[in-house]
Amino acid sequence: MFDLSSVDLLDAFTRELQLCKLKSDEHVVVLAEPSSRGDYVAAAYGAAKALGAHVIAATVPGGSPAPMPSTHTGAGPGLVSVLNDTVAQDLLKSADLVVDLTREGFIHAPVQQEILAAGTRIIFVCDAPDVLIRNLPGAGDKDRVQRGVDLLRGSSTMRVTSQAGTDLTVQLRDSHPMFQCGFADDPGRWDHWPSTMVMCWPEISDGRIVLAGGDILLPFKEYVREPVTLEVAGGHITKVTGRAEAELLSTFFDDSQDQWARSLSHMGWGLMKTADWFATAMYGKDELMGMDARAFAGNFLWSTGPHPVLNRESYAHLDIAMRGCTVSVDGTDVVVDGRLVAD
Ligand SMILES: [Fe+2]
Repeated sequence: MFDLSSVDLLDAFTRELQLCKLKSDEHVVVLAEPSSRGDYVAAAYGAAKALGAHVIAATVPGGSPAPMPSTHTGAGPGLVSVLNDTVAQDLLKSADLVVDLTREGFIHAPVQQEILAAGTRIIFVCDAPDVLIRNLPGAGDKDRVQRGVDLLRGSSTMRVTSQAGTDLTVQLRDSHPMFQCGFADDPGRWDHWPSTMVMCWPEISDGRIVLAGGDILLPFKEYVREPVTLEVAGGHITKVTGRAEAELLSTFFDDSQDQWARSLSHMGWGLMKTADWFATAMYGKDELMGMDARAFAGNFLWSTGPHPVLNRESYAHLDIAMRGCTVSVDGTDVVVDGRLVAD
């Protein structure tokens, strides 16, 4: 049934594919699994067709090898049905643009790197409709995040402090700064709608991270209620103290039986000014991956587990979004007390 919500989605997907610089006669594959949103498949398909592209909607079986429920976590390896099927992979490699509507995407799957290496661009979409529409990127967002990447690339140290007691010093050498801007417009580019963030993959960081009440733990999609102190040495968490949430994190690290669970992964800051910190509270966990928290303008986002630059394969991936931090790169403040310094 085509209804008014469908019109909104079709409009949003059309604008998104325009940001991805979809041209007429390019080839689009809309990738879904049985539990993907059918209205997103229709909207992506319709938008591609309206822009004059060739389009195929491909639905592959669901199911993931991840040791945790693989839905909207941002931690999973992707669908077995694609990981084990070279025909599916070849289809994706032959596309100019893949609109990935699977529930988990292929963020941590090496096969995604192979698909990108073929020149395919991939835009991953899984959050709720009004989250997508509210956070629809602007063409200038890429320049905004690129400036942050350039700053990181030319710097040696990032320092993160907070009134709650955080004081972390991060070595930026060989930290591979990168960005997400919410659209994939260059060949071989993966991106996530919605997102606007700057990040890097440091190896060494030292000091202390203190989570304050209201910070957000992902993929649990829960707010911290009582402070948690994490001591960090050489890029690894050496001690966790606090009450309920400290216990939760320690249990997660232990249960994962993963040698990299306590190692720090990517970190950076959000620039998405339309993000809503309370989206995590206002939606069902199944409706969101949590990009409002991850990309919130002026947050400090850090994570644990996998580290592709250091070849650490791990599914024990936490993303933790903090408010109220000051992030300083070689003495240049990019975030002060949780507020993004003007672009
Ligand atoms: Fe992450």
